[in-house]
Amino acid sequence: MNTALKKLVARQEWQFFTVLPRADRPLALLWWMILVLRGLLPAFFVIAMGHLIGVVQRGSELTAALGYVGILFFLLQILTPVHQALSANLGSKTAAWLYDELTSACVAPAGMIHLENPQHTNDLTMARDFDLGISGPPLSISMDFIASGLVEFIGGVASACVLFAYSWWAPLLLAGAWLGTHWLLRESGVWKDRNTDEVQNAQRHADYSYRIAVDPPAAKELRMFGLSGWTIDRFRDQRRYLHELRWAATRLRERSVFWSVLLVVAANVILFWSMAQAATGGYLPLDRIVTFSFAAIGTSMIAFGGLSWALDGAAAPASAVLRLQAAMSETGKLNDGELSVVGMPQQDIEFNNLTFQYPTSSSPVLKGFSLTIPAGSSLAIVGQNGAGKTTLAKLLCRLYDPSSGNILIDGIDIRKLELSSWRKNVTAVFQDFIRFELTLRENVAPKGAADEVILAALAEAGAEHLAELDTILSKSYAGGTDLSGGQWQRVALARTLCAVKLGASLVLLDEPTAQLDIRGEAEIFDRVLASTRNATTILISHRFSTVRKADKICVLEHGEVIELGSHKELMEFNGRYRTMFDLQASRFDSEETGVEFDVLD
Ligand SMILES: Nc1ncnc2c1ncn2[C@@H]1O[C@H](COP(=O)(O)OP(=O)(O)OP(=O)(O)O)[C@@H](O)[C@H]1O
Ligand SMILES: [Mg+2]
Repeated sequence: MNTALKKLVARQEWQFFTVLPRADRPLALLWWMILVLRGLLPAFFVIAMGHLIGVVQRGSELTAALGYVGILFFLLQILTPVHQALSANLGSKTAAWLYDELTSACVAPAGMIHLENPQHTNDLTMARDFDLGISGPPLSISMDFIASGLVEFIGGVASACVLFAYSWWAPLLLAGAWLGTHWLLRESGVWKDRNTDEVQNAQRHADYSYRIAVDPPAAKELRMFGLSGWTIDRFRDQRRYLHELRWAATRLRERSVFWSVLLVVAANVILFWSMAQAATGGYLPLDRIVTFSFAAIGTSMIAFGGLSWALDGAAAPASAVLRLQAAMSETGKLNDGELSVVGMPQQDIEFNNLTFQYPTSSSPVLKGFSLTIPAGSSLAIVGQNGAGKTTLAKLLCRLYDPSSGNILIDGIDIRKLELSSWRKNVTAVFQDFIRFELTLRENVAPKGAADEVILAALAEAGAEHLAELDTILSKSYAGGTDLSGGQWQRVALARTLCAVKLGASLVLLDEPTAQLDIRGEAEIFDRVLASTRNATTILISHRFSTVRKADKICVLEHGEVIELGSHKELMEFNGRYRTMFDLQASRFDSEETGVEFDVLD
């Protein structure tokens, strides 16, 4: 492909037009056909008018000439509203298609790095909400602006072509002048630098300020810290800044406007002067004068206008979606293994000299981490904030791959296991678990399970009386209900216990009881351990009353294992674990709480 063609294909406008047939091929085809027809009609109309005048002058039969004019006039009237309806429809379908593509680009990759990659953040901000009318009109509206702009452009070119019948230079002069306005005003209308970091950052900040204002999670802090005014100011300032950037980039420049006006006036003066000369010299009959005058006026439809900004506003998010689609499938990719597995691990899980660094951070979280966990046992991991505990859990779910070293499941590298089948073997309560705005049933078994299984899991998690299975866990739905933090945690636990009942054999519990009251925690954790008896359980917790119940405890510091043993062994070892345990034990009055904090069992 030559460079000019490559450049054209890479243009966001081009990419936008390639999206239309992908959204709805027949509709896009019809839209283009009517668009071209609408574009050509004015030129046919001026020819028909000239013809009619000629016929009148000659005194010939009028019917046919009047018929042509009538048909063209009718089409000119009727095609506009029809095309407007088609534009709205095609715009909605294109927006829906882009949202579908964006959703699958986010969800489909097996890994999750693509969602954390700062290089995608700006495109994501633009693509996520493009059709809400915040950054420009929604596509169902802007498609009509785009259509009108294109119709005018084609109409202008077609009118110019009519002038070839007058002389070879007339269309070149006039169309050239009107096209020149596009070049002279090229800085205006089109927001060329909208993809710069400055613009996209401003958009992201405005977007964030808007979200903390309108979404419930920030409502408490906004009020308690007196941030309402601050949020409004921030939103307004960022939006104003964004508009200033847009204005500075796209405003009409006086000098360019001056030259544009001069150019088109000069071209029109030359042409009309020439026609006047021809008319007075008797070389140009009345019918031709009418046709050419209207064609010359029609050529002005080529002028720089609304097409640029409408197309720019629609093409920018469309090309952001296409960029994300291509980039995220690559960044979020994890090579799938081939071994389909059930009921693993049967022997052990081995972290072998594991090093892991998040692609976005500058230093590794885990450094030469080695540890073996026998299948069917329970291991607790303790350590300070940021030690790498959650990271270990995510690596076991194979949401990321290690930078070096490996994770062996029954001696097989985790990367050789078929991802989907491995993930069916694993279940997890994540520290920041999801609270689905769905029914209790769907929260416990998102992919479905028998009611008895769901109810048993809820009972084990102490969540049996929270709501009916079909109650939506959100007040924003009719008949829905809200849960407290601890109640939600019980639901998340029930989700994991349900997965164990459905066959998961590795259970990851990352701070599963952090929000439970202290009595509930002790009681539930005993039940959880009992129901995951046959599974391998990894518990991450800062609560030593639960940690102590695990078969083995691993103390993690700066991504390395510094102590490993049973509660008893580590207490006798008198190291970091004991210090942490004693510190926490001294804060609790075991008589009041009923929680075991005896130093040794
Ligand atoms: N998605 C991420 N991208 C980049 N860095 C991350 C990401 N998640 C965690 N980190 C960094 O990795 C380190 C370990 O984080 P991790 O969440 O594993 O700690 P943790 O031991 O679970 O801590 P906590 O006790 O607070 O839950 C931290 O320094 C954190 O900033
Ligand atoms: Mg964590």
